[in-house]
Amino acid sequence: MSTPAGTVTVTVTGAAGQIAYGMLFRIASGAMLGPDTRVRLRLLEVPAAVASLEGVAMELEDGAFPLLDSIDISDDPWIGFAGASIALLVGARPRTAGMERSDLLAANGAIFTEQGAAINASAADDVKVLVIGNPANTNAFIAMSNAPDVPAERFTAMTRLDHNRAIAQLAEKTGAPAPAIARVAIWGNHSATQYPDIAHATIAGRPALDLIGDPAWLTEQFVPTVQQRGTAIIQARGASSAASAASAAIDHIHDWVHGTRDGDWVSMAVPSDGSYGVPEGLISSFPVTCANGEYTIVPDLTIDELARPRIDASVAELEQERDAVIDLGFAKRA
Ligand code: NAD
Ligand code: LMR
Repeated sequence: MSTPAGTVTVTVTGAAGQIAYGMLFRIASGAMLGPDTRVRLRLLEVPAAVASLEGVAMELEDGAFPLLDSIDISDDPWIGFAGASIALLVGARPRTAGMERSDLLAANGAIFTEQGAAINASAADDVKVLVIGNPANTNAFIAMSNAPDVPAERFTAMTRLDHNRAIAQLAEKTGAPAPAIARVAIWGNHSATQYPDIAHATIAGRPALDLIGDPAWLTEQFVPTVQQRGTAIIQARGASSAASAASAAIDHIHDWVHGTRDGDWVSMAVPSDGSYGVPEGLISSFPVTCANGEYTIVPDLTIDELARPRIDASVAELEQERDAVIDLGFAKRA
């Protein structure tokens, strides 16, 4: 992905927004791609936000980051994605008062259709795409559907925040430090139907379920807390999670590029290969391992009787979203 000079083009959409503000300075510092990779930032916004984005660019310059090669601002996706090896699709149309779900899918359908086509036309051959803007899985599905020349597996959506939230809940419950916790999994949609699964999780090598000692905590506390965490933050903050979402996006790309820890996995929403009964092509969250810049869905896990109907319900929601955007003309049936 690096040019001979070791410089990677990273495109961020919604670059004047909250999440981008939490993300851009860390990208420039090397937290995402490491200390040996220089970064050429391409920042994409809607025309009305370009003036504000110029202020963010001034702040980035003022950081005097040794790894920051250059900053380009654009409101044109065909320019914004030119040469991108990493594309972080943050900008999306939020739901506003009076908007039906179909209105939201239609507004985002137009954005992600255009951005998918622009990625197809102008991104680098090795582009890796992470969609963060909601509804993230279905927006990623739309972008993927409109980029026929880019391998489908390069389109991913973010469930790493949910994964990190699950680790945090488990750490709080058991008193274990977060790095001691491994093999948490998020299945399905980045929505309240997602299924956070700790059936395979370990804490310092021991089964997490053995250490919890309170079976009701799983279904009555852990699962709903992780599922509803985004809503709880919106209620508390008056705005959706931003710094934690930015941090999760850095984690997602870092691990995709540099690999996952030995003996552990992470959660990414990726096009299904049919694993675990998830229809092929649907962008659904799975536990994955990463190595050499590629991810692999963790094979052959046992799905217990608690998990199965919950994963199926989240996948059914994703199928409904997919069918809705196909009916609206933003994607074609595979
Ligand atoms: P924000 O409103 O602060 O910023 C979004 C920015 O996107 C705005 O500046 C807006 O002008 C820009 N934008 C809108 N349409 C665009 C387009 N077509 N091209 C380029 N830019 C465009 O919102 P935020 O807090 O940064 O959140 C962004 C998105 O991320 C929301 O959809 C939010 O729901 C989602 N989100 C996802 C997760 C996750 O875990 N997947 C977590 C938190 C938030
Ligand atoms: C989150 O998980 O914090 C966000 O996706 C919530 C939202 O609706 O923006």
